[in-house]
Amino acid sequence: MLNFTFCVPTKFVFGHGVEKETGRELKALGAKKVLIHYGGGSVIRSGLMQTVTDALDAEGIAHVSLGGVKPNPRASLVYEGIELGRREGVDFILAVGGGSALDSAKAIALGIPYEGDFWDLWTGKAAPAARIPVGSVLTLAATGSESSNSAVITREDTREKVGLNHQLNRPVLAIMDPELTMTLPPYQTACGATDIMAHAMERYFTNETEVDVTDRLCEAVISTVIRAARIAMKDPRNYEARANLMWAGTIAHNDTVGVGRLGDFASHRIEHELSAMYDVAHGAGLAVIFPAWMRYHLETGHNIMRLAQFAVRIWHCEMNFENPAETALRGIEAYEGFLKEIGMPITMKELGARTEDIPELTRRVRRSPDGTVGQFQKLDDAAIERIFRIADR
Ligand code: NZQ
Ligand code: ZN
Repeated sequence: MLNFTFCVPTKFVFGHGVEKETGRELKALGAKKVLIHYGGGSVIRSGLMQTVTDALDAEGIAHVSLGGVKPNPRASLVYEGIELGRREGVDFILAVGGGSALDSAKAIALGIPYEGDFWDLWTGKAAPAARIPVGSVLTLAATGSESSNSAVITREDTREKVGLNHQLNRPVLAIMDPELTMTLPPYQTACGATDIMAHAMERYFTNETEVDVTDRLCEAVISTVIRAARIAMKDPRNYEARANLMWAGTIAHNDTVGVGRLGDFASHRIEHELSAMYDVAHGAGLAVIFPAWMRYHLETGHNIMRLAQFAVRIWHCEMNFENPAETALRGIEAYEGFLKEIGMPITMKELGARTEDIPELTRRVRRSPDGTVGQFQKLDDAAIERIFRIADR
């Protein structure tokens, strides 16, 4: 097990009706003027916005709001939020929505105290040094952004989608009522489940040995999501399934299941180029890329035993000791079968991605300083292109 430092400063308030506690929780955190940040209007239609503003009013907390966050949140709205936040002197940013509202809120929170262009922080030109505290009332179980150290923003002019991982990105508060996710369209529920599984899988596929506790935690998250997603797809108002998905989403990406090992994250880097180019949902892009990434390792014979372990422990495939690669393949097929079952695309074509774009997509994938992507196997240009070709079935 590798050395690690792990600090999640997020307070989680979880369960039935907890959104009504928003005012009390923010007051306890000392918030006096809050910027409420939200998306395209689902939270207004559901009545959640009214509940949240009533809760703030009841505690005498002033608020302004900025809506319009799009899935794959855009830099232009972040600039608007920074300007509004500075003008209004806000001291807390509350995202009401999913990962996109949260990520946009995180960028505004870092951008307000930063004197230059906030994008410098995303490109690495400058390091984050201060931020306004961020919290959320979460409406979608997916990204784990409610306590992750990451925020992903898309620049419209250059079509760059870039994530910033930094401890200052971790929110201080997450209000999580699973009932709020019951209004999700089935496609978004499925995208969310796919993303949660992928977050655990990015950590599961490591070359580190003797990391049993995190292996078993990853397996618990993945198996829970498979079961709960099946229930939620059939019965969207099933509270227990929604609750399990929601908490799985949080721990899958705040590093509870990832410490002591090197995560991979190549599939995420590769997927971000699909959602940047075609503006598709992140979870749907992962459904296309992750199985292709696994097939690439099978093809190149890398750590077949770990792929086989996934097949046996998650999908209950029988271990073929004479031919572990056969077991690994059964596992990938079972994973793909599940993705199809919940309505996810598993090929570039189904996603609307074009074969002729593969060289450009490959070129755009953000490399680590050594020019490669990922940790399970470090992927060079040819490997990344091969993964796109495998996905382009
Ligand atoms: O915008 P509104 O009207 O609110 O509608 C949203 C949006 O259209 C809708 N929605 C959300 N909650 C709902 C609902 N509709 C009905 N009922 C509800 N309860 O769902 C749509 C998608 O919302 P969005 O916030 O975009 O989804 P998600 O939470 O999946 O966030 C995706 C973004 O997060 C990034 C992704 O790349 C993508 O940009 N990620 C962020 C991460 C992080 N910060 O740690 C990690 C992830 O790997 C990911 O990259
Ligand atoms: Zn993700």
